[in-house]
Amino acid sequence: MTWDTITLDIDDDVARITVDRPEQLNALTVDTLEAIEEGLTEAAAADARAVVLAGAGEKAFIAGADISYMVDLSTPEAQAYAELGHRVADAIESFPAPVIAAVDGYALGGGCELALACDLRIADESAVFGQTEIDLGIIPGWGGTQRLPALVGDETARRLIFLGERIDADTAAECGLVGEVVADDALDDRVDELAETLASQSATAIRAAKEALNAAGDGPAATGLALERRTCAGLFGTHDQREGMQAFLEKRDAAFE
Ligand code: HXC
Repeated sequence: MTWDTITLDIDDDVARITVDRPEQLNALTVDTLEAIEEGLTEAAAADARAVVLAGAGEKAFIAGADISYMVDLSTPEAQAYAELGHRVADAIESFPAPVIAAVDGYALGGGCELALACDLRIADESAVFGQTEIDLGIIPGWGGTQRLPALVGDETARRLIFLGERIDADTAAECGLVGEVVADDALDDRVDELAETLASQSATAIRAAKEALNAAGDGPAATGLALERRTCAGLFGTHDQREGMQAFLEKRDAAFE
């Protein structure tokens, strides 16, 4: 399948979804969100073992929801747009393999929110993050009020959302919004390297780890701990568990499924 607003490349078990509207700084229209959702479905059907989400062009990862589309929306229309954005964020979060946000340039508003839904975020030095919706008279609507505090803590999330602050990559790393900052010309190589490493792990174990990690904070700690016990125990008897442990005992590299 091909789309006007994104590209999807699958190579060596790694899927790369690139939002491709560089003239609008990759702002997310309805079509673009639907295309990302379809791209993720296709990547899952191809058994991708890692996904990279990126933006085309030099200036932006994603500069947010499309303001020219939103300007005259009614409440029901805005509700539908919010639900679509949430569906995409949920599809990223529940994708059965790690998703990496490769952030070059602006990650603002809904762009920051899609990055928050990813498992890992790598930024280049010129990246700029912000939940800037307050400047438009709205609030984050694609998960930012829930996912941002989980990453950066409540106080910092409130500052970012109330003030619409735009922060650079190093500041984002200091507050836990980003895991790694690399030089502008090193982003693609570093992201590819990380994606390849993730793809070489046991896909079954990574998927189980992601499910358990995603459940953290969902309910009482005891529920998450019980899920972890069940999920971990459920891996025993799988090919990758037997192979991983046998390989250790035989002092060789494991050959995972
Ligand atoms: C629509 C956008 C856009 C956006 C940029 N563009 N961001 N179009 N929606 N979010 C368009 C501009 O209109 C312009 O189009 C072109 O991209 C280049 O942008 P410029 O502003 O000329 O570039 P620059 O001066 O370099 O400034 C870059 C920028 C600025 C700082 C990123 O564009 C900006 O502040 N954009 C808005 C960012 C934002 O507020 N995002 C949050 C949106 S709210 P033309 O045609 O003039 O060349 C949101 C809510 C999610 O995401 C939840 C919804 C329910």
